[in-house]
Amino acid sequence: MHIKAKKLQTRPYCSAVIVAAGSSSRMGEDKLLIELGGRTVIERTMLAFQSSEYIDEIVVVTRGEKIPVFAGIARDAGVSKLKSVVTGGADRTSSSWAGVRECSENAGLIAIHDAARPLVTGEIIARAVTAAQQRGAAAPAINVKDTVRQARGGRVLRTLERDELFLMQTPQVFRSDLIRAALSEAVKLQLSLTDDCAAVMLLDAEVFLVEGSEENLKLTTPSDIYAAESILDRRGEL
Ligand code: CTP
Ligand code: MG
Repeated sequence: MHIKAKKLQTRPYCSAVIVAAGSSSRMGEDKLLIELGGRTVIERTMLAFQSSEYIDEIVVVTRGEKIPVFAGIARDAGVSKLKSVVTGGADRTSSSWAGVRECSENAGLIAIHDAARPLVTGEIIARAVTAAQQRGAAAPAINVKDTVRQARGGRVLRTLERDELFLMQTPQVFRSDLIRAALSEAVKLQLSLTDDCAAVMLLDAEVFLVEGSEENLKLTTPSDIYAAESILDRRGEL
């Protein structure tokens, strides 16, 4: 009898960095400690990565005084993949860099995620990790719905091609050597970037988009809380 050897499906070790060192200035209160359906935002975000089979370890980056609070929330929620909670920086780029430096040496892929996106799904994590494994750098994005125009001083300059415009989300996933080189360069140049794809683009590396979701929203202003509650209600989690 001929038995065909089953090919082992291997994937690189994947670390998740959750950046949570912001100041929630537009929200007006610490948005990561707001409760949505009985769980804080930071707890929901950590649990999304805990329950993904594509993620092997989790590093949380936060402000120094929040380290014991977030470590306690992780412990109580059973976030067994948590490697450490470390101090972030004054801007998102330095916080990402602090998290990436903390990832295991053997990580082949690193996923960087905004703590303020607690509604990320397992499907989105899976899509981004799989695409990054194949192509080096991948991020979820959604199409722009409105007409977008560039203007200066109230005067319209031009209309942008809507089909070519995307709103970037997270997790943004990269081969670890690429994101380490990119963020160390961005920090050296003292750049303050709003996402991590911007850092790898500095090195002229290509970034590929995967399908994101309107539900993967970033909690930024108070009205986003109502939107998040209605999504959780629809999911039966409120
Ligand atoms: N972030 C971070 N370190 C910073 C700034 C931001 O880790 N120095 C994180 C935030 O905690 C958040 C994510 O990056 O999870 C996206 O940032 P944003 O939505 O802008 O959050 P905040 O910076 O906290 O909010 P704001 O800009 O309104 O102050
Ligand atoms: Mg910010």
